[in-house]
Amino acid sequence: MTTSPAPALDLDLFTDEALLDPWPLYQQIRDTGPVCRLSRLNVWAMGRYAQVRAALGDWETYSSASGIGLNDVANEATRGLIIATDPPEHDRLRGVLAERLSPREIRKLGDDIRRRAAELVGDLVEKGEFDTVTDLAQDFPLSIVLDLIGLPQDGRDKVLTWADAAFSASGPEGPRTDAALPLLQDQLVYLATRATPDQLAPGSMGRAIYEAAEAGKIASESCVPLMSAYVTAGLDTTINAISNAVWYFATYPDQWDAVREDRGLIPSAFNEILRIESPVQFFCRVTTRDVDVEGMVLPEGSRVMMLYASANRDERRWPDPQRFDVRRNPAEHVAFGYGMHGCAGQGLARLEGHSILEALADRVTRFEVGTPQRRINQLIRGLSALPTTVHAA
Ligand code: HEM
Repeated sequence: MTTSPAPALDLDLFTDEALLDPWPLYQQIRDTGPVCRLSRLNVWAMGRYAQVRAALGDWETYSSASGIGLNDVANEATRGLIIATDPPEHDRLRGVLAERLSPREIRKLGDDIRRRAAELVGDLVEKGEFDTVTDLAQDFPLSIVLDLIGLPQDGRDKVLTWADAAFSASGPEGPRTDAALPLLQDQLVYLATRATPDQLAPGSMGRAIYEAAEAGKIASESCVPLMSAYVTAGLDTTINAISNAVWYFATYPDQWDAVREDRGLIPSAFNEILRIESPVQFFCRVTTRDVDVEGMVLPEGSRVMMLYASANRDERRWPDPQRFDVRRNPAEHVAFGYGMHGCAGQGLARLEGHSILEALADRVTRFEVGTPQRRINQLIRGLSALPTTVHAA
């Protein structure tokens, strides 16, 4: 087969308008081809499901080791972070907490997390009115993830701001990235100076990271970046998934009725929330050789945006992709990525999401929400506020 250059598109995914409503631009990218060049940024973008998934499954061709962001400063600052490595370094880092996040270990957390979800939802239902983002979606993962990592109480109030910035810092050069980069540095300094082994809770994941370094399994310089990866990745992602769940169930009450009538639909419903509103919009890869993508050439050294959120709404893969359907069971979505870098915390994220949905299904018959406020972030799509009234069961 002869190859031709990938078609170029002159569009900007990072204006306010695009960040608030990226769907028409993703559609344009998907319609243009299996891969396109975004001429303004001089990067490539993949928006169709089949190509995104295939690329994520081929780390030797699509490498993470040159960074997963769109600017050199962030890619340099995150060098050696688990998400920005290839094997064998990647496997060493991933091995450190693999056992702690395995299905068997996550199951052991089930009773505690379900109890926390029931208590939190119970308190909010008593109030009747609350903000889903700040009172429900943030509180829950924040306490769980930070307790698991074993962070001291002091400084926890800033962790969310830092985690949000750590994602946004990987956008293209510009004022938003300039504002986020110093906060990414602040997070690393906090972890290095305040989350020291003596300050981390005994038996915590944070301690396990330092123990792995003491045992010579990873370099001691890897401890802070590894903690940073889990703190950053484990918060905004789950927070947005929970906020989006309430927003969608308020908008589609018949879908909420379906879940309340059949709790067996909860795993499918949580997947559907992640498919239709993927919290992580993209990460990048860099090609290690010339690649033929469906007859289009992607030269060696190309930085390619893997548009998870677009792939999850690709009409080639999902019939009627804009329709929210809790019975769809889209288990093969790429909201958690796929392949070697596929989300290390997805078992925990699912346990959190399912526990909240179970607790809500026990207590709430209807959600009414005001206008959702969007938080602008260059990598993560989510809400900053969602005024909510609930009708108790
Ligand atoms: C709904 C919630 C979540 C979503 C949507 C999500 C999404 C993702 C995605 C898309 C990736 C792939 C990165 C890539 O392709 O380069 C990833 C990786 C990762 N996630 Fe998650 N995540 C979630 C929750 C969590 C939680 C709760 C934790 C841990 C406490 C976590 C820890 C990680 C880590 C450490 C990686 C890097 C894995 C590697 O590079 O091997 N995530 N996540």
